[in-house]
Amino acid sequence: MSGPIPAFPAGFRWGVSTSAHQIEGAVETRERSVWDAFSDRPGRVRDGSTAAVACDHCRRYREDVALLAGLGVDAYRFSVSWPRVNSPGGLDFYDRLTDELCAAGVRPVPTLFHWDLPLGLDWRQRATADRFAGYVARVADRLGDRVGSWITLNEPAEHTLLGHALGVHAPGERLLFDALPVAHHQLLAHGLAVRALRAAGATGIGIANSHGPTWPASEQPADREAADLYDTLLNRMFADPLLLGRYPDGVGELMPGDVDADLEVIAEPLDFYGVNYYAPARVGAPDGTDQFGAELPFSRREIPGRPVTDSGWPVVPKALTELLTGFRARYGDRLPPIVITENGCAYDGLDDQARIAYLDGHLRALHEALTAGVDVRGYFVWSLLDNFEWAEGYAHRFGLVHVDFTTQRRTPKASYRWFREVLREQR
Ligand code: FCB
Repeated sequence: MSGPIPAFPAGFRWGVSTSAHQIEGAVETRERSVWDAFSDRPGRVRDGSTAAVACDHCRRYREDVALLAGLGVDAYRFSVSWPRVNSPGGLDFYDRLTDELCAAGVRPVPTLFHWDLPLGLDWRQRATADRFAGYVARVADRLGDRVGSWITLNEPAEHTLLGHALGVHAPGERLLFDALPVAHHQLLAHGLAVRALRAAGATGIGIANSHGPTWPASEQPADREAADLYDTLLNRMFADPLLLGRYPDGVGELMPGDVDADLEVIAEPLDFYGVNYYAPARVGAPDGTDQFGAELPFSRREIPGRPVTDSGWPVVPKALTELLTGFRARYGDRLPPIVITENGCAYDGLDDQARIAYLDGHLRALHEALTAGVDVRGYFVWSLLDNFEWAEGYAHRFGLVHVDFTTQRRTPKASYRWFREVLREQR
């Protein structure tokens, strides 16, 4: 950290992100999702917890919107729970939340799918994509008069890999490469959702994809090949169809259905491209050490000399600059303006100086990407609140605001006050 963070352009959007399943609670007022069923299976969530109460946000959303207003963000990225929308009165909740945000001067940025698929639906089925578009149309019809920016899906790559290929997230399938249709159907669902949103008059549409540079563990051909495969599966397989209208070499022929016709839907023009960035990956040939299993065709390695967060992710701010300049080089004029839709870290404690250092470093790295000519329009911290961190349960705290999960008391951390100051200086 050295001196104030450089000034971002006028009109740059500052925000924070959350997702429905991770904060809402109130499970009794909605249908069940794949995550409820997964969490009920012993041993699946590390601390045996579920999201039945989480941050009790459905009841406490007014207090949470007041925290957003106190922070001074322009925008709030939350997700709409499809199982809740399927339930009586479900859309009313998002209606009230949207009104509360607008009244507080905070722009609502809903994500329409953040991993909590209604139980009974399955991304291996193409019909799920059509169902998704129908649900999106209902949400747009209800909230479209107040929502200026929409995000279709959150991280289809992670949902495919962790949930369907490796089985460590819901729905807990270990399909390995047979999970590829799950990726294709989510991308198709995205394209159909873009069309449904356009039909409802939307002019600010994006997706939130997780990306990070992939570094080969060595210059050996086996390591380079493994890293290239990893990069294809995590980065290019999701960005290329959206931005170039094609799959990386060798991937399209593994996908189901009339892939060329689907790609036309998938490549519907976007108004912004959301990037969730946490860390780069260093990848080599399989060496039997990967925590997700020896049969994988690659293995992730430590990045030497880098501190790690409580979730074990290395802190490498400059990799964000590399990622964004690399995107610009690969996609050129096909790349719409970028918004960083998630960036953050897990650290314990109220005096979270390590989180401040992480965010400070990443904002400087982001500014460098702007200086290098990448068109970035916004930055959202993950997350407003400590919350249900998927298979890690409540152990990893990503919030700017501490949540006591026994009393539901919210306490702003040092990072909340720091970010509030950054936002003041930027205005
Ligand atoms: C991302 C997810 C988000 C949160 C962060 C830490 O992959 O989109 O829900 O869990 O990681």
